[in-house]
Parts: sequence; structure tokens; C-alpha cells
Amino acid sequence: MDLLRIADLEPGQLAEILARAASVKSAPQEVAGRLAGKHVGLFFMKPSTRTRVSTETATVDLGAYPVVLGQQEVGLGKREAVNDVARVLDRYLDVLALRVFDHADLVAVAEHADAPVINLLSDEEHPCQALADLQTIAESRPLAGSTLAYLGDGNNVCHSLMVGAAMSGMTVRVATPQGYEPQREYLETARAHGDVTVTDNPLDAVRGAHVVYTDVWASMGQEEEAEARARRFYPFQVNGPLFAMADPEAVFMHCLPAHRGDEVTDEVMDHARSRVYDQAENRMHSFKGLLVYLFE
Ligand code: CP
Ligand code: NVA
Repeated sequence: MDLLRIADLEPGQLAEILARAASVKSAPQEVAGRLAGKHVGLFFMKPSTRTRVSTETATVDLGAYPVVLGQQEVGLGKREAVNDVARVLDRYLDVLALRVFDHADLVAVAEHADAPVINLLSDEEHPCQALADLQTIAESRPLAGSTLAYLGDGNNVCHSLMVGAAMSGMTVRVATPQGYEPQREYLETARAHGDVTVTDNPLDAVRGAHVVYTDVWASMGQEEEAEARARRFYPFQVNGPLFAMADPEAVFMHCLPAHRGDEVTDEVMDHARSRVYDQAENRMHSFKGLLVYLFE
């Protein structure tokens, strides 16, 4: 099984992985050594802090050996064709986990490798982030019946979270500037599972929501657009007055890294109901839950 998109999972499989993630977090010793003898490839074509460290530590805790690779050494699609890299790595490794620019590269790797291929972020999705996010929300309140407001760019993090949340019975309200909405294909997938709306009015999304989520306005690789995007996205900043319009028990979430003062203010990042560091921690537990599930 591959995890390129969150919708590669059936809703029941997603719930199973989240259950594994929760039990791994409460009793990590029970899965220690579970993947002994396995080799997990972790390939990064872009910078990473959370994904790099959480996947490597999770792999070691499960008794497997992490092989961390960068684009400088592999030259995916440059030094060697993507298909050949996939075929070669498949001879050594039991899992291929990759962070890439172009989602099509992941699809090509998955076509040419028998080992499970895991998306560690592409231009289209960030499914491992969505696993950690859903685990984090479930620690505060039941997923089913809760409302998630996502503000900002309708791209990778939004796609995976929106679909995963809808698959988990959440109501999803996405607020983006016009022209930055989630791709139609992801909206259709999410709407096949639940109630998903898109608006250009941040207040309509946030009012009464149980979770308020945002991501950077300019993603890795879009640095040149940062200034122009900041002008369009400024009304979508999650600040104290906007967060106060959510449910009184609402939590704030961000995949990180955050640009404090842009998409979120210090007041909200450091709020008692901010869950951003729990999300970061849960990247490790949920990746363990995923690996344990894959090799059961
Ligand atoms: N949230 C996340 O994926 O962070 P990194 O880019 O630091 O891995
Ligand atoms: N949307 C961001 C997420 C980083 C974890 C990016 O792609 O850079």
C-alpha cells in the first residue's frame, strides 16, 4: 500500500491508523523493535525540520534503520531518471518515503517500486501532516461532528487535511482569497465524504469553528511570490479578534514552520489553546502508527 494522497486510505483505514497513533503515543514500548531488520528510505528534495526528525526518530524507535537521502546526492530526475532511482532503491529499502516538488515524481516512484511509498510533502498533498493533525484534534474532541476552519492557501496541507477531515466526519470550511482555492479534484473527493464549503470570507469560515488552522502564505519554492501573496492573504491572518469569533473552546493549529506576524500573530501562536507543538510531536507518533499499520 502507498500513501501518496490521504484518499489512498479508506475512511476505516484512516481511523485504524489514527487509533494506532494514539496507542503508540500512550505506550511506545509496545511497538519498540516492531520493524527490526527493515530499512526505511527518507528522501528530501526540500528543507525539513519536523518531517526529517520525526520520521527518523520514529524509524529508529521501531527498530528499523533510516537511510536519509538528499537531492544533492540522488539527483532525482537529473543525475538519474526517477524510474531508475525507484527501481534501485526498491532493491535495498522496505519503505520509500519522499519529499518532492512535483507530485508526479511520487506517482512515478510508486509505479516502479514494490515497497510502500509514502508522501512526505509534494506540491499537492501532505498526508503525514494530516495524520498528525487529526490525531491532535482527536485529543481535544471527537472528530465526527466537529467543525474545522482552514484559512489561507488552498494547496498541499489544505488538500490533505480537508479530505482527511471530511473522511473523519468533520465539517470543513475553507477560506481563501479568490484564485487560491483548493483544486477541484480535491474538493470533489472531500465533498464525497462530507460537508465542505469554500468561501473568500474568513469570518464565515471561523465563526463557531472548533479548530482554526492556517499554513504559510508562500510555500517552499514560492518564495519569489511572497510579497504579492502577503497583500492578497493579509485579510486571512489568524489574529486575536478573528480567533475570538471561533467556538470558545476552539483550538488553533498550524503545520509549521510559521511566519509569525503574517498568517498568524504571536497572540494566537502562543495562546493557551494553540496546539501547534502537539501537532509537531504527533508527527512522530502518527508516523510510527502508519509504519506499524503498514507492516501488520
Ligand atoms: N510541517 C512540516 O512538514 O514541517 P517541515 O517542513 O519542517 O518538515
Ligand atoms: N505549504 C507548506 C507546508 C510546509 C510544511 C509548504 O509546502 O512549504
